[in-house]
Amino acid sequence: MPAGTDRHDGGVVDDGGADWAGYYASSAGREPRPLLLAACEELGAGQGRLAIDLGCGEGTDTLELLARGWSVLAVDAEPAGLALLRARIPPSAAAGVRVLCASFAEANLPPAQLIHAGFSLPFCPPQGFGDLWARIRRALAPGGVFAGQLFGTHDTWAQDPDLTFHARHQVEVLLDGLDILRLERLGRAPIRSGIEKRHGAAGPSLSVEGRPDTEPLSGKKGSPTMPAKNATTESGGFSAEERAAMKSRADELRAEGKKGAKKADGLQAVLDSIAEMAPEDRALAERVHVTVTAAAPGLSPKTWYGMPAYANADGKVVVFFQNAGKFSYRYSTLGFQDAANLDDGDVWPVSYALKKWSPTVEKKVAELVTAAIS
Ligand SMILES: C[S@@+](CC[C@H](N)C(=O)[O-])C[C@H]1O[C@@H](n2cnc3c(N)ncnc32)[C@H](O)[C@@H]1O
Repeated sequence: MPAGTDRHDGGVVDDGGADWAGYYASSAGREPRPLLLAACEELGAGQGRLAIDLGCGEGTDTLELLARGWSVLAVDAEPAGLALLRARIPPSAAAGVRVLCASFAEANLPPAQLIHAGFSLPFCPPQGFGDLWARIRRALAPGGVFAGQLFGTHDTWAQDPDLTFHARHQVEVLLDGLDILRLERLGRAPIRSGIEKRHGAAGPSLSVEGRPDTEPLSGKKGSPTMPAKNATTESGGFSAEERAAMKSRADELRAEGKKGAKKADGLQAVLDSIAEMAPEDRALAERVHVTVTAAAPGLSPKTWYGMPAYANADGKVVVFFQNAGKFSYRYSTLGFQDAANLDDGDVWPVSYALKKWSPTVEKKVAELVTAAIS
């Protein structure tokens, strides 16, 4: 499984820290992990048996398990992901799930027929991994299945002392005594997968898969074209003048050379991401784009986990737009990142719900963005 020149993708930005909010945003609407589905096929319908979704994130796999009749213990240390999960649990399934906000080290793992750890175990620090793995193995009920991923020692993040990486021979030690149903190594390919099972019909099982599908979204290269749909007529978003101005700006940037071309790509990626939104979201996103770029011309548009975002000279995202459709929310969101200077005493807002564009909203957005870059 591990080894090779693995990229550390999975949607976590490679900027020295795990950015789970962005990861969850990029995970919106994803399909359940194929390895989890394979484990479910192996075990049949849940019939109320217990599954643990360890490091469940925004909970897509927990929801899949519930839909397949499993009782689920969903564990994650990040309240933001758990909130997204809670919001999506159908009332009819609520009794079957326990959502536990706890670190791997703290979580009590009861006996379970299925333990899923989708791209989460490598985030356990090395000093805690042995204990965690021992508890996972103890929790696997006879005949149970583990499905999850590890990162290899050639992963691009392999130097990170806070994460755990395994060489092939170390994986074999971890799996000793388990029946292997699937064990795959991924290099640059997006999926590595496996399911392993303890020897004998009564033994627990274990499976190991690869990494998430792809890096979420990056700026698309190519000539600066406008969004495919005419946003002005469809959404009341960009005016013809604004479109022309953006095209000129992209042309200017490209003429500046390599650095400018990168910025033009960023701008194009933002326009593309806006063009893909549902009409109501697109209308808001277009006004946000126009307002942000006018209030803060020094910020460079680029996509951040597929969302329109605007970065400072250090490349740090200051402000981004999350469309309502991304998480089927009631509202879109204007979000500010750490680089935004909105500090106000010991507590201040960094996220704003956007429902409908108006002169008042425009003024507020412009003020916030101006303050953010001050
Ligand atoms: C890459 S995400 C994977 C989420 C989800 N399982 C998926 O497949 O998309 C890793 C998850 O592990 C959680 N996590 C990382 N370290 C953790 C720890 N020490 N204890 C509990 N959860 C942790 C993170 O909060 C994050 O939600």
